[in-house]
Amino acid sequence: MRLMEKILEAELAGILKKIYPDFSDFSKLFVQKTGDNKFGDYQTNFAMTTAKTLGRKPVEIAREIADGFAGSEAVERAEVAGPGFLNLFLRADFLGGYIRGIGASPYDYSFVQRDGAVVVDYSSPNIAKRMHIGHLRSTVIGDAIKRIYRFMGYDVVGDNHLGDWGTQFGKLIVGYRNWLDRAAYEQSPIEELERIYVEFERRSENDPALAETARVELKKLQDGDPVNTGLWKEFIDLSLKEYGKIYTRMGVSFDTWYGESFYHGLMPGVVKTLMDKGIAKVSEDAVVVFFDESEHLPPCLVQKKDGAFLYATSDLACIKYRRENYKLNRIIYVTDDRQSDHFRQVFRVSELLGWNEPKSHVPFGFMKFADGMFSTRKGNVIPLDSLLEEAVKRARAVIDEKNPNLPEEEKDNVAERVGVGAVKYADLSKNRVSMVIFDWDKMLSFEGNTAPYLMYTYARIRSMLRKAEDAGKACREDAEMFFTEDAERSLALLLTQFPVAVMKAAETFSPNLIADYLFELCQGYNSFYNALPVLKEKESLMYSRLLLSERVSRILKTGLDILGVECVERM
Ligand code: ARG
Repeated sequence: MRLMEKILEAELAGILKKIYPDFSDFSKLFVQKTGDNKFGDYQTNFAMTTAKTLGRKPVEIAREIADGFAGSEAVERAEVAGPGFLNLFLRADFLGGYIRGIGASPYDYSFVQRDGAVVVDYSSPNIAKRMHIGHLRSTVIGDAIKRIYRFMGYDVVGDNHLGDWGTQFGKLIVGYRNWLDRAAYEQSPIEELERIYVEFERRSENDPALAETARVELKKLQDGDPVNTGLWKEFIDLSLKEYGKIYTRMGVSFDTWYGESFYHGLMPGVVKTLMDKGIAKVSEDAVVVFFDESEHLPPCLVQKKDGAFLYATSDLACIKYRRENYKLNRIIYVTDDRQSDHFRQVFRVSELLGWNEPKSHVPFGFMKFADGMFSTRKGNVIPLDSLLEEAVKRARAVIDEKNPNLPEEEKDNVAERVGVGAVKYADLSKNRVSMVIFDWDKMLSFEGNTAPYLMYTYARIRSMLRKAEDAGKACREDAEMFFTEDAERSLALLLTQFPVAVMKAAETFSPNLIADYLFELCQGYNSFYNALPVLKEKESLMYSRLLLSERVSRILKTGLDILGVECVERM
């Protein structure tokens, strides 16, 4: 299914070719939806942007093109406005056909350069630590970005770049041998590993020899010692089991789980290349890349004097791997904004190496809790499983109140979807770089830009469609569409904007643009629904409005699905 803008642009290009057979630069030819229907449904300022090239007055060009629309199947009327805008008014039957066609085939984004793989690097918790709220945001935002690109037809690889190769392992191995509480470890392994890690830090303050022991254990691990490797694997397995529960509950999955350790073997080669090319140099026995002053970047350490590699080295090795193993379209990294400098360094070094595939760091800001409930005294470690549990519990209370007659089992299912959906949506609907305030009442409210509001609008449409079906008047896919009222016409036009919202969200890595769109769609639908009868209308109009409603529900479901929020049929 083509985007409405593309259909109109093609028609415009056809007219132009007739009027100006020698003209060939269509790169500035854009049609977009108007904000105000006074100015038509769609608009182009093409006449203005090409007046110079064509050597004519914009108004004259616009007038010629307007005349060219005579007999168009799509455009009923083209009006010249102001200095040379061209306002396009769609034919009702054409708009109707477009709405009828929604969902029949995927949107056609072939005008976008989609060659190669998009690697989305997200979630990426650190082994033996519980995921914190930053990982929640990375998981939710990264998963949405992955779905957005996939929806547009890109080949996407979602990679969980696990922190499985840090200095923490030496300390954990020492802690494990000395202070492990076996029962606690069996009960909740990550918590126990966190405890022995803290224990290590506490004890090593008074016992400097401990640090040395940990270093030796780490070295042994890195050199492949079987006992330490066995422990390391155990920590990873246990951690992944815990993370897996959260991912399953959140409906998040990955294509690869390589993690930092996977690139270990590539790191010495990367450092050697950096040295050979004169990009890095030895400074105080360490290997460092110094940047030009104009970059305003701190030097990037790639190897310590004891030979150990660093976070930046592993990311460089990872880029090397990705470019050698995928034909890359781009790499997208989703982490909190404290890592901005790290990625600027890594991207700059890879540029110096001539690794020029596009890379984007998609940073996000902090999440703060309105009621302080989940911030523990020890720091910002927020157990995500209890957060989800709490969300579902609260959603259940809301459902009990709103729809007490729903069967118990269904209530559980709805509460799960609403609870998890509300947490995800609260995150995705905000501008990602702003600080997000986590507020239970707001995110579970049935009013405003929330998951429950969107899900409820969807469920209400579905229930209307079921009611029509029960009355023997099921929605007809081939119904003729009428746009007798403003509310209907503007709703139909709004439906044409969904694929554009998705595209803009992809371009700027901003899932909130889709959320904004869906919210607007629901508001549009609700004013349509409040103003105009559907089932009580005479048949021709009823079938038209049923089909329009069905298409709204379809786009809502698709849009929420792209955001990773699952709809329910009743709530
Ligand atoms: N493990 C890191 C952390 O928890 C995030 C990794 C992000 N991805 C990357 N390629 N560096 O902070």
